[in-house]
Amino acid sequence: MEHTNITSARQLSRADIEMVLDRARAIADDPSAYADRHPDALLGLLFFEPSTRTKMSFSAAIKRLGGDIVDMGPVDSSSVKKGESLADTVRVIEGYADALVLRHPSEGSAGMASEFVDVPLINGGDGAGQHPTQTLLDLFTIRESAGLDDITIGIMGDLKYGRTVHSLAHALTNFDVRQQFISPESLRLPRKVRYDLHARGTDVREHTDLDEVLDVLDVLYVTRIQKERFPDETEYREVAGEYQIDANTLAAASDDLAVLHPLPRVDEIAYDVDDTDYAHYFEQAHNGVPVRMALLDALLGGEQ
Ligand code: NCD
Repeated sequence: MEHTNITSARQLSRADIEMVLDRARAIADDPSAYADRHPDALLGLLFFEPSTRTKMSFSAAIKRLGGDIVDMGPVDSSSVKKGESLADTVRVIEGYADALVLRHPSEGSAGMASEFVDVPLINGGDGAGQHPTQTLLDLFTIRESAGLDDITIGIMGDLKYGRTVHSLAHALTNFDVRQQFISPESLRLPRKVRYDLHARGTDVREHTDLDEVLDVLDVLYVTRIQKERFPDETEYREVAGEYQIDANTLAAASDDLAVLHPLPRVDEIAYDVDDTDYAHYFEQAHNGVPVRMALLDALLGGEQ
């Protein structure tokens, strides 16, 4: 892979994606073969927003490669509290680590920060922008459960603010995947994402009702309404609680449907789905470790 920074899924070619996914498969098959790949590597974690999966799976990934983390910790106990700029913070922490993972509430922050550092910088989520490493583990899970060619995926929920959706929709244009978008009118895909998909030759089919497409789906990717990104809580309340699925909803789906969700879920997927064969979201979260190991290995210079 030629990239030093991973700030957007738009950077990732089909060859890049397949390289990471193939390496992740090899790692998942034989993790011990990778245990000492990067014994001295330190991964700097800069999380300016809450995180469970992204932060912990990156930590697990670098440790499983033989390395370790240096963690800025909570914003409240860092010098950010004293008014330090993001540019200064990353310039300092690049001196403590071999690669950085940044999560930040401002869209575009990872691209901006990457211009101030020489070590690889990975976007762990920039506001309502992008979340490219989530996309890699989403693609890994889709490939394992349904394959990545000649499939139909429904992407449902908060398509406006959901950064995992923006990254995934773009990355899927590298494959023979039909995309159906299901959301309330007010949470449609942003115009710039729609244009981008059109420019990549993808038909953007939008629906307000899951029933219109459920029976043709191979994959249903459900997302949380991103409460924290709404400028006004009343707007959130108008759409909260819409687009929930339960085992009953899925009676109309193909038996092979794979339901994915980047997690955390609030109420979009009822707990009764967890025990069905449709549920792939916990396995998806677990795939974050081998996929992030594969990506870190590639960025830190590991040969396959
Ligand atoms: C997602 C995120 O942070 O964008 N979480 C994650 O990284 N798995 C999805 C979300 O918060 O809804």
